[in-house]
Amino acid sequence: MSEDPSDKVELARADGASRGFYDLKNRINDLTGKEWVFCTKSVIPRSYPPSFQLKLRNAHGGQKPPELCAEIVQAFTKRGQVVLDPFAGVGGTLLGCSICGRVAIGIEINKEWTDIYHQVCALGHVRRQAIVHGDASCLVPAFRFPPADMVLTDIPYWNMDKVEKSRGTFKRAGEAAKGVYSDKSKLGRFDDEGPQTKDEWLAMLRLVFAACHGALKNKGYAAVFVGNMYNKGEFHYLTADVAGVLKAAGFVFKGEIIWYDVAKKLHLYGINYEWIPSMVHQSILVFQKDEGSAGVDGGAEFKAQNRARLNAYQRKKGTLNGAR
Ligand SMILES: C[S@@+](CC[C@H](N)C(=O)[O-])C[C@H]1O[C@@H](n2cnc3c(N)ncnc32)[C@H](O)[C@@H]1O
Repeated sequence: MSEDPSDKVELARADGASRGFYDLKNRINDLTGKEWVFCTKSVIPRSYPPSFQLKLRNAHGGQKPPELCAEIVQAFTKRGQVVLDPFAGVGGTLLGCSICGRVAIGIEINKEWTDIYHQVCALGHVRRQAIVHGDASCLVPAFRFPPADMVLTDIPYWNMDKVEKSRGTFKRAGEAAKGVYSDKSKLGRFDDEGPQTKDEWLAMLRLVFAACHGALKNKGYAAVFVGNMYNKGEFHYLTADVAGVLKAAGFVFKGEIIWYDVAKKLHLYGINYEWIPSMVHQSILVFQKDEGSAGVDGGAEFKAQNRARLNAYQRKKGTLNGAR
């Protein structure tokens, strides 16, 4: 396909610096070519910024950084589009969507976490997204909204709390050991109401992701946080299990992004008797719903809509360079 230079619009940041050129043919996101290069990187090193009442959200134990969620959402959606999170927790996805001007719908089974999300929004004056208290395996199949543009979620874990940590922790030379770890990590708290066996866990995920496939528009992406784990002396490659669940639900597997949590503390698992990895990363598995070309907008009309949408937003912000 030949390049038409009139399809390109230069965008600027609020400080006037160029963001590069946005192509009106862009069907996926609002990124310029220069920004797109970075959004396809397969490793994202990020820590937890102390933002959005992190201390309050820490009560959850499995919460994700809203800034990281915003980065992912911006790679797969345009401003104003709708993101569904069936396992919303204390709202990493929802807060991420508020950062970047997307609309989010979250479902969370544990009221303690929906309450914390509401508190976080009130304390930080953040626009509250819709969060429904309930079971995603019942609620997502009943999803009656217009199709979501993206699914971004972070699955609850099966038996995560059963991993025992070694006794003792890091100390400086000459210091006494700093005590004994709790046998249960805080992560155990977020699947109190979840399934207990791996088969039950997979069955619940199958139900939810089959329903997410139905709730997603054609060509929409689903990005799923998954961490591998140890259980009873064995490494469980849960990323592969979860990829299988989404493929069985009809999704096409598109790739894996590794989120390297650079600030994650190392724990002493198995020291002196067994090698157990200290996992400082999680996978973000990326899938797409693809039912052929239906749902893909036509060329000229699509570009005109894209230009109008972009102009309206950039004019509001006063950051449009070279708009035609
Ligand atoms: C890994 S956490 C999500 C954390 C979230 N990304 C955040 O930033 O707070 C998974 C969440 O799924 C919830 N959950 C488990 N089973 C569920 C179900 N059947 N329906 C809805 N939520 C469920 C858990 O209570 C937990 O909060």
